Amino acid sequence: MKFCVDTDNKNSWYIGTNNFDAEMANKMETLMFQGNGYFGIRATSEERQLNERRNMFVSGTFDEFPSEVTELPNLPDLLNMEFKIDGETLSLAKGQIKGYHKYLNLKNGELVRKFSWLINGKRVDFKYSRFISMSDKHLLVSKVEIASDQDNLNIQVRSGIDGQQSNSETQHLMEGDKRLYEDKYLQLMEETQQSHIKFVFNARHNVYIDEVLLSEKPFINMGRRQIFANYDIHLNQGQHFSMTKYASVYTSIDRDVDQKTMAEKSVSRLKQNCAFNYDEQLRKSTKVWEKDIWQKNTVKISAKDIRPQVAINFARYQLAANTPRDTRMNIGAKGITGEGYKGHTFWDTEVFMLPYYIFTMPNVAHDLLRYRYHGLAGAHKKAQFNNYRGAQFPWEAAWPDDGESAPLWGSADIVTGEPMKIWSGFIEQHVTSDVVIAIMDYINATNDQNFAQKMGYEMILDAAIFWSSRLEYNRNQDRYEINDVIGPDEYKEHVDNNAYTNYTARWCLQKAIKVYNLIKTDYPNLYEKLDTKLDLTKNYADWLVKVNKIYLPQPNADGVIPENDQYLDKKIIDVSRYQVNNQLSSIFKDYNLSQINEMQITKQADVLLLIYLFGDLFSDEVKQSNWDYYEPKTTHDSSLSLSTHSILASDLNLDDSAYKFYERACETDLGIHAGKAAQGLHMAACGGVWNMTVEGFGGVRIENGKLKIEPHLPLAWDGLEYQITWHGSALKVKINNDKLAVEVIGKGINFISFGEEYQIPANSEIEITLPVIAEV
Ligand code: BGC
Repeated sequence: MKFCVDTDNKNSWYIGTNNFDAEMANKMETLMFQGNGYFGIRATSEERQLNERRNMFVSGTFDEFPSEVTELPNLPDLLNMEFKIDGETLSLAKGQIKGYHKYLNLKNGELVRKFSWLINGKRVDFKYSRFISMSDKHLLVSKVEIASDQDNLNIQVRSGIDGQQSNSETQHLMEGDKRLYEDKYLQLMEETQQSHIKFVFNARHNVYIDEVLLSEKPFINMGRRQIFANYDIHLNQGQHFSMTKYASVYTSIDRDVDQKTMAEKSVSRLKQNCAFNYDEQLRKSTKVWEKDIWQKNTVKISAKDIRPQVAINFARYQLAANTPRDTRMNIGAKGITGEGYKGHTFWDTEVFMLPYYIFTMPNVAHDLLRYRYHGLAGAHKKAQFNNYRGAQFPWEAAWPDDGESAPLWGSADIVTGEPMKIWSGFIEQHVTSDVVIAIMDYINATNDQNFAQKMGYEMILDAAIFWSSRLEYNRNQDRYEINDVIGPDEYKEHVDNNAYTNYTARWCLQKAIKVYNLIKTDYPNLYEKLDTKLDLTKNYADWLVKVNKIYLPQPNADGVIPENDQYLDKKIIDVSRYQVNNQLSSIFKDYNLSQINEMQITKQADVLLLIYLFGDLFSDEVKQSNWDYYEPKTTHDSSLSLSTHSILASDLNLDDSAYKFYERACETDLGIHAGKAAQGLHMAACGGVWNMTVEGFGGVRIENGKLKIEPHLPLAWDGLEYQITWHGSALKVKINNDKLAVEVIGKGINFISFGEEYQIPANSEIEITLPVIAEV
């Protein structure tokens, strides 16, 4: 495994770099991203750099610029601090930089950068530290410390709120008032031009010489969309300068503020926060990280190499930093770490990130699913637009009732020169099944009846209405088909009967039939309510007619399930050079999408994803045949592919492959490729790291509603410990080469392991000797 960041062999909570490499700068900004789910900032430096991507986003604040799709606006910069030392502006491109060190503490999200600047014969030492608070979600605290070997050093600093930002030159924000309170609280107000979300940004500075607070008022200057405080300081040799900047952001969609009083109240809140110094604020925030995140879902890997532990710590850190705790919002494919994918949510959440939350923080999983419930109006709108019924969840989702938010056009086709139409928003429909898969997993793992009856069952039924209206009857074959779709493999557009889509659509209908019967007998009031709302009696009759006639592509003589009706007849080419290439989508250098469409080339797990998610539907032989057939044809051009392959390889006892895919998947963001992650993280890959560790090697799965734990510890590891929750009890699982120990904290639970069902009584522990499985 090769990481682009330095790790510390003793501390797996640390990622850093010891040199400033302009080539890697954008990637580092992404990797060292800081956030608390409410807002987040890329790890740009306080002083401006060439080609930086200076981004700050607040979750859910979507705005649609004319002729573009809705996106999260890039907000005014609260980090900026411009220093002039004896009249010379600090820049890493000038003079000499010595002892450069930038590192992120994953345990509490603190970012530290230090270096010495050698300029005009002087040496000035800088240390910057900052964090986004987990204890007050609106707060950012940063600090700079300066010392020098010179006497009478002049330090001029300009720091404040800089609204001269854009999303790649698109300007979403209209300028509002700028204000100064009590000579030191700076305030800028702005509003999005279409969604009319109001923002308030505040900042205040405390400057200290040798720990003594400077009483002088700053000189304030304001420009277009800017307000700054300026200080002019003289520092003698041996003296120490430090400045703490407290900044905050509030919006009119926040649930914890009243927008009428937001401007004044946010300033009083900042004032209260200023009563605590940097270290005290950091301690408060660190406590929340510890209590709300780390204690909930320990994952401990015993191995000689520390990088697997770094990878899982990094993944959990990023998930926490990018998950909004607001049911009107969801996790973007790139979180809030960059402009990529515009903050939109995809099926990435349900299939790749929700397992982590369902098993470790079910309350967060609940809220993420509730977002889909809020999105039902948008899902109905989408279905109606396409002449279907029921709830068709959008391929790309933004504000819940926006409905479909996918862009229409992508980059130019290298052969025709024309812009390529992005078909996913129209015909990549499996996301509706993916939502149902996550709902069922959540209900099975938590037994949360309240959610099931208030939201879950309704969404399952509504999704089935969509699928039923979507099915096409083929008279000749007397079967129902789903034609003209894109499956998970986005390199095959306009295909008929994509296996993943058809199997999961039928599964949705089967679940809806079960739910219908359950609520009719057990919850008559709910039944009546939903019958009136969704015309259940009629729809149920319709499902019964169709469910067993949905065409499910069957394994052929070689055991291969056709990915779609056309796939197996297409030309086969050797894709190995696109697999090993450390550049995403390099196949596009040689072919355009129409040409790729005509070849047996798969972008990401498709049939194999079906086999992984619905393992009980397929025999081991069929699983193996499909692995042998599809993996060599898969370019893994989506960050969603590698983790699925690692887990499936674990299931198939392909231990070597499982570990190779695991390592490659961990490298998705942390690896050495400069382009990957430059525009934002791959959140599904972060979920994937947990999935590979706990579901793949740790063997956790939900099968037919039951918990299964069948570990496959990699040879390179001596042990693995993790914690999950099941039906409200905490399970502490410890695995080593021949033993599985499960301790239950809470009420007793049942689980299956290698064909045996075990019962663990309340608050007790069980130890099982693992069967010896020959590696294939
Ligand atoms: C993948 C999709 C994924 C999207 C967002 C695409 O490249 O093919 O499956 O949902 O990226 O991560």
